[in-house]
Amino acid sequence: MTPDATLIRRIADKVGTPFWLYDAGTIRQRIADVKFMTGSPGVQARFAMKACPATKVLREMAAGGIWIDAVSGNEALRALRAGHAPGNTPPVVCFTADVFRDNALDVVLQNNLLPNIGSPGMVRQLADAGYRGPISIRINPGFGHGHVNTCDTGGPSSKHGIWHSQLMEAKAAADRAGMQVVMLHAHIGSGPKFQELHDNLTRLAIAYTETVRHFPDLTAVSLGGGIPHSYRERETQIPIEPLRELFTSCHQRISAAAKRDIRLEIEPGRYYVAPSCTLITRVHDIKTTETNEKGAGAIFAMVDAGFVDLIRPAMYGSYHHIDVVGKEDAHGREPIVIAGPLCESGDVFTRGGADEELVPRSLPRPEPGDFIAIRDAGAYGAAMSSNYNSIGRAPQVWLEPDGSLELISRRETLDDLLKAETSERL
Ligand code: LLP
Repeated sequence: MTPDATLIRRIADKVGTPFWLYDAGTIRQRIADVKFMTGSPGVQARFAMKACPATKVLREMAAGGIWIDAVSGNEALRALRAGHAPGNTPPVVCFTADVFRDNALDVVLQNNLLPNIGSPGMVRQLADAGYRGPISIRINPGFGHGHVNTCDTGGPSSKHGIWHSQLMEAKAAADRAGMQVVMLHAHIGSGPKFQELHDNLTRLAIAYTETVRHFPDLTAVSLGGGIPHSYRERETQIPIEPLRELFTSCHQRISAAAKRDIRLEIEPGRYYVAPSCTLITRVHDIKTTETNEKGAGAIFAMVDAGFVDLIRPAMYGSYHHIDVVGKEDAHGREPIVIAGPLCESGDVFTRGGADEELVPRSLPRPEPGDFIAIRDAGAYGAAMSSNYNSIGRAPQVWLEPDGSLELISRRETLDDLLKAETSERL
């Protein structure tokens, strides 16, 4: 979707800038794509809700029959409030984490959620809390990689899961504590390239076929998330037909190895939501620096969104497509740096390279008052926004295919920011 200038102005007049604009049709299309991939019997999709926990999105998932992977007590509670079913038969909401923080253990126990443990000591913690039910074990299979090294979720440097050679010890501990291992799980952060994704998922499925015979209570295995979204070449997304074939054959192979039906799960996050949301920001000024002995001068478009809104470029050097709204077809492009309002030099949306340096983008020169659209911001966008510099989080707006608009979260105010401050004697 390329949001049009009139619509953006209409919304900005009502809610100010910056704001997040979700396109319901795009989310529904991605849900349909995942349902196609997981359409054969015995294959089930979850939504890794960390990518975008908005209630509106969670309800779309519930309506589509997509289950949930939650990573904190409050994420699980958000999913339940949005209409996802509690309980572990079936385990619609699965709790995946390496640490039970805050209310997590209580939420798991009170709602009978399936705990997917990522650290051996979690068996003991569950046992100490009196739990004797089913568990899932998250394995670090030793391979796989993310879109950047810090997003690696498989390998010796990854903190996630239980190292594969220690799996049987974890199972023995679960047996002793009277818990049944009903699911094995691994999220290998499959990297951005299709062939690599395919190879890594196949390798993981083969590893499961060798492991299932040791787990008599097993009813499911999960291949995790990590289905890529192509942020740079937006027109060439991964082919979904081969993934449907892959998931169908993995399900058959693993079930054949176990000699009973073993549900195959996947739990993408970004794939459902990345393209569905655009961060709209307004240009406040254009300024320049000049070339000197320290480096090249640049043209800065100063906008009102910053890494408090979308942190991915500042945190990972991630690429997001950028449009100057209404000038998409303009000639005469220049290298422009898009920079935000925060008191941090790294508050720049056009970054990349090995040292995460400035990478000016070839754009029509914007003018103050123009809107800038930062695309593909639906995954880990609003979800990772913060209150740094005491800037309230930006509002989220939902656009239906019939053109109707809904404000799904308002701009945070100072009172919101101060809500948890207190003065209690301890
Ligand atoms: N399942 C588990 C257990 C995970 O750890 C993750 C992501 C997912 C599923 C979903 O992965 P996805 O399909 O969304 O790639 N903030 C980073 C991404 C961190 C992902 C961590 N775990 C970003 O903005 O790219």
